[in-house]
Amino acid sequence: MMYILDDSLAVFGLPVSSVISAASLVREEVIQPLGWVMGGITLAGLGVNYLVARANAVKRKEMKRHEVVKYTGPVRILHWVHTAAFVTLFLTGLVLFIPPLGFLAADSLTRIIHRVAAVLFVAGPLVHLVADWKRSWRGVGIAFIWGSEDIEWLRAAPRYYFTGEEESMPPQGSMNTGQKMWWFITLLSGVVFVITGFIMWFFKTSAPVELLQWMVLLHDISFIVSGTMLFVHIYLGVFHPVMTEAWRSMASGKISAEYAESHHAKWYREISGTEEGKPGGTGNKNNKGSGAG
Ligand code: HEM
Ligand code: HEM
Repeated sequence: MMYILDDSLAVFGLPVSSVISAASLVREEVIQPLGWVMGGITLAGLGVNYLVARANAVKRKEMKRHEVVKYTGPVRILHWVHTAAFVTLFLTGLVLFIPPLGFLAADSLTRIIHRVAAVLFVAGPLVHLVADWKRSWRGVGIAFIWGSEDIEWLRAAPRYYFTGEEESMPPQGSMNTGQKMWWFITLLSGVVFVITGFIMWFFKTSAPVELLQWMVLLHDISFIVSGTMLFVHIYLGVFHPVMTEAWRSMASGKISAEYAESHHAKWYREISGTEEGKPGGTGNKNNKGSGAG
């Protein structure tokens, strides 16, 4: 008996087989419908959040004081190169993930583009790692080092992101807890993508079919998790009413001292030399960015 998985494997050139492993069943019955549900719930949730947060948004005073560097040039280049690769991989993967779109992959052009983007996806971070391994490792460390302030942040965040109420938000470092979580997802899913994608790419004729089916399943899970969280990331970076300078930080690299003080108080104190309870320092114009990423 041919299971539908076999058809989709045929579309992207993996061997056709009648083996129906647990992986193929889970992918077909659970993971594919889950992709729709998670994507739909995430987008609907972001829409509701936008309407509520916009209604509660307090018009902020114009930012007048000087600016501080949030993301250095190399970090921003890495971010946008990686984004280009990721979005290309997302779209060319989507046509394989959604069976009715499979015909778009039939001439294999999208599969070739997927591979070219995969090389960029791996090369970008590797170049950055080699060029500035100290800051890169520091950035990786941020995703894994959690303290009590992160738990406090998780408790206070829903109120903050819906009503804009800042009082219970603990002071944050260069990355707040939500950003750390995104960074963590990015790292973890990146490793899963690389391992599973590598096996599907180079061992599709020699690896056991069941193993390939497990690789497709894990690749799909990473796709759903990182893809839906990317919607959240884009929404917070570009559209959320309280994240007024997030986009600027990744476009020009700079944010106002006020924004740094209210969103990343701990980090701002470090770079500006101001003490807790004495906000409003002049800041150090030679700061070297957050070092994240
Ligand atoms: C190093 C990175 C990656 C490599 C080497 C890689 C490689 C592959 C390969 C070889 C396939 C099988 C299809 C084919 O032969 O054309 C595949 C499928 C797929 N890839 Fe990737 N990929 C990578 C990253 C990504 C990323 C970042 C995403 C999405 C954000 C993604 C989404 C998908 C999807 C959805 C499929 C279809 C799986 C299915 O049929 O259910 N891939 N990838
Ligand atoms: C069109 C897509 C994207 C947009 C518009 C976007 C936008 C942004 C913005 C505005 C920031 C600065 C946020 C701040 O510091 O307040 C940021 C940071 C960041 N982005 Fe993206 N981004 C995109 C795609 C991606 C992708 C695909 C990845 C990784 C796979 C990624 C990883 C990160 C990381 C790790 C940070 C630093 C931590 C954080 O702020 O969350 N971004 N992005």
